[in-house]
Amino acid sequence: MMFNILISDPLSEEGIQPLRNAENMNIVIDTELTPEELAVKITDFDALLVRSQTQVTRELISKASNLKIIGRAGVGVDNIDLDAATEHGIIVVNAPNGNTNSAAEHTMAMIMSLSRKIPQAFNSLKNKRWDRKKYVGVELKNKTLGIIGLGRIGAEVAYRAKGQRMNITAYDPFLTEEKADKMGIGYGTVEDVLQVADFITIHTPLLKETRHLLNEDAFKLMKDGVQIVNCARGGIIDEEALYHAITSKKVAGAALDVFEEEPFMDNKLLELPEVIATPHLGASTIEAQEMVAIDVCHDVISLLTGETVKNP
Ligand code: NAD
Ligand code: MLT
Repeated sequence: MMFNILISDPLSEEGIQPLRNAENMNIVIDTELTPEELAVKITDFDALLVRSQTQVTRELISKASNLKIIGRAGVGVDNIDLDAATEHGIIVVNAPNGNTNSAAEHTMAMIMSLSRKIPQAFNSLKNKRWDRKKYVGVELKNKTLGIIGLGRIGAEVAYRAKGQRMNITAYDPFLTEEKADKMGIGYGTVEDVLQVADFITIHTPLLKETRHLLNEDAFKLMKDGVQIVNCARGGIIDEEALYHAITSKKVAGAALDVFEEEPFMDNKLLELPEVIATPHLGASTIEAQEMVAIDVCHDVISLLTGETVKNP
């Protein structure tokens, strides 16, 4: 019996080798499908493999009459309608570990770029200006980094920021005093973290509880001159509120890898000189892409061939 597998977002070629090596797998890679084309094509497939771009909606799932498994090569499953998948008996697996390191490294790169205005200074130099006064930064040493969401990535960021001699204070509903002590970090409520931090970095999933977690009221609680980093998900920050917090000088800078709408060609936050940004590159390393694809392919093979899976 042949299994048909559709890969609708770009995945690492090395990462999908396990699928290519497995028996009875017919792999189709088509990363240019419109939602309408995908809704027609999906009926032929037993498995669908995606990253964050393909929106696996209830409507798409309702057309997927043969689909048994959706594999998400990455952590966040907010692009997949989990309720609809469950109702149709489709298993969703993700790859939660493979990109932790890359996302933490990207977050540190963003914090350091933000604190020393490296992208802005580089742009200015490219425009043939030698401006040393305009790009004075701040040290990270002895500053407080507030981490909201101390899971895999948040914890890796904490360890790295300690290496920069930052003080860390975190909020996570599952963070205990014992764990915080063991990590050598402070902890408190989300309000405590917002009030004391010089830099705030978010590492929660996008859930209904975390949508617009950083909103107008949250910005009011923060220190004047706070700097914000989001390498988790667009939508956790209310972009309109962030825009006002920056233009009113409450927030001194923001580093954003993720946005409420992706992909975009235009976002008014990017018009602000205080904002630096990357186009959702947190997990975009050769290593992470290979690992997440390998993990998810192993789960797809196991499931289709009747074995148990690691990350349902
Ligand atoms: P994780 O599940 O290990 O950690 C998430 C943490 O958030 C958990 O500890 C959870 O308890 C906590 N949390 C949940 N609700 C919260 C709330 N209301 N307030 C505070 N904390 C809350 O996930 P992870 O691997 O650390 O990834 C975190 C998120 O980062 C993912 O969901 C994904 O959306 C995003 N991500 C982005 C990129 C990127 O390319 N930019 C890469 C990887 C992951
Ligand atoms: C994730 O949730 O793993 C990230 O968004 C990375 C990605 O798949 O691009």
